Amino acid sequence: MRGWNRSISDVVKALKPSKIREMTLLASSMEGVISLAIGEPDFHTPTEVCEKALQDAMEGATHYAPSQGDPELLEELERYLRGRYGLPIAKGNLLITAGGMGALTAIFRTVLNPGDEVLVPEPHFPEYMAHVELAGGRLLRVPTEVEEGYALRPEEVRKRITSKTKVLLLNSPNNPTGSVLEGDVLDELARIALEADLLVVSDEVYDRLIFDERRHESIVTRPGMFQRTVVIGSFSKAFAMTGWRLGYAFGPPDIIEEMTKVVTYYTSCASSVSQRAALAALRTSQKFADEMREEFQRRRDLVYRALTDIPGVKVNRPAGAFYIFPSLEALIEDGHEFALRLLEKERVAVVPGEPFGPSCKRCVRIAFTLKRELLFEAMERIKRFVKANY
Ligand SMILES: Cc1ncc(COP(=O)(O)O)c(C=O)c1O
Repeated sequence: MRGWNRSISDVVKALKPSKIREMTLLASSMEGVISLAIGEPDFHTPTEVCEKALQDAMEGATHYAPSQGDPELLEELERYLRGRYGLPIAKGNLLITAGGMGALTAIFRTVLNPGDEVLVPEPHFPEYMAHVELAGGRLLRVPTEVEEGYALRPEEVRKRITSKTKVLLLNSPNNPTGSVLEGDVLDELARIALEADLLVVSDEVYDRLIFDERRHESIVTRPGMFQRTVVIGSFSKAFAMTGWRLGYAFGPPDIIEEMTKVVTYYTSCASSVSQRAALAALRTSQKFADEMREEFQRRRDLVYRALTDIPGVKVNRPAGAFYIFPSLEALIEDGHEFALRLLEKERVAVVPGEPFGPSCKRCVRIAFTLKRELLFEAMERIKRFVKANY
């Protein structure tokens, strides 16, 4: 019998499969590979979180939750975020989602009309492209440079604003560079957002992973910005809970109310048992999150030092997250070819730079999400590979 003979949606067809997932899959199909490809903590979710979630499931937390979220989690999250941001966050500002990804899906579906433009600093999390395009929008990039520590220049944002620019999408700490937006930059970006009437979507899923005693700073705390910023948060990286798929958004109540409709029609609600786990994480695992950050800082130091030892590699010292994004432009033409050869010859998986933006072709992303012994070995292999081949 003849199969279905019509075409797939143009937007979906044009999306490329995720390079991060592709490299991770390839690495897992080979023996002896040290994979620095996927961005998730190697730590397991704390035992007390798993136990509490399991206990709650046994006692009936297995039904649909309200679309906005489990009321007890909303209450606890409200307290937690008030403490972290110093803002009068109330229940109406909050939405629980299926991962930070669920919050990104909801916000772009909620605010974009066909042709609306979203400005994002480059390098950027590749998934943004799909989120914006699936919602009918266009993602436009604002370049940053490794030599400048990937710092965003607000005037570069201002220059690119058109009558169609609706959203400024920020990500601090940044995936893939680990850079954070400095206070004076946030001040200026806030002024631009107010002048140009932009909504800011501030992806802060790495907010708990900031090094060197720095405090996490957000544009939402700048004057007038609580009324025009939607912050994207997640339990994935902060509490080692990637597989539970639990995130959240907070923002102006009218936008949150509309986003809640998207959640209702996409997923109905976030997983009930995962929401119980998130509640337990907030109550029991703050120290765990801090200790994990300290360990990531030690790993950052190890990987950064090793990369600065390799001639021809330009590298910025990450201030947060768990990625480092060296530029190999003095050595290579194509990060993809480099990554494949490195995997084949030295059994180390990294992600080629190209999905993070067109200017990143000669960069690679390294996730320092493994124990230091393994990271040390991986860096030795990378050094040996570069020395022998470039
Ligand atoms: C910048 C950024 N935002 C959002 C996410 C989504 O994370 P999750 O859906 O696990 O919360 C990720 C995951 O890697 C990320 O790097």
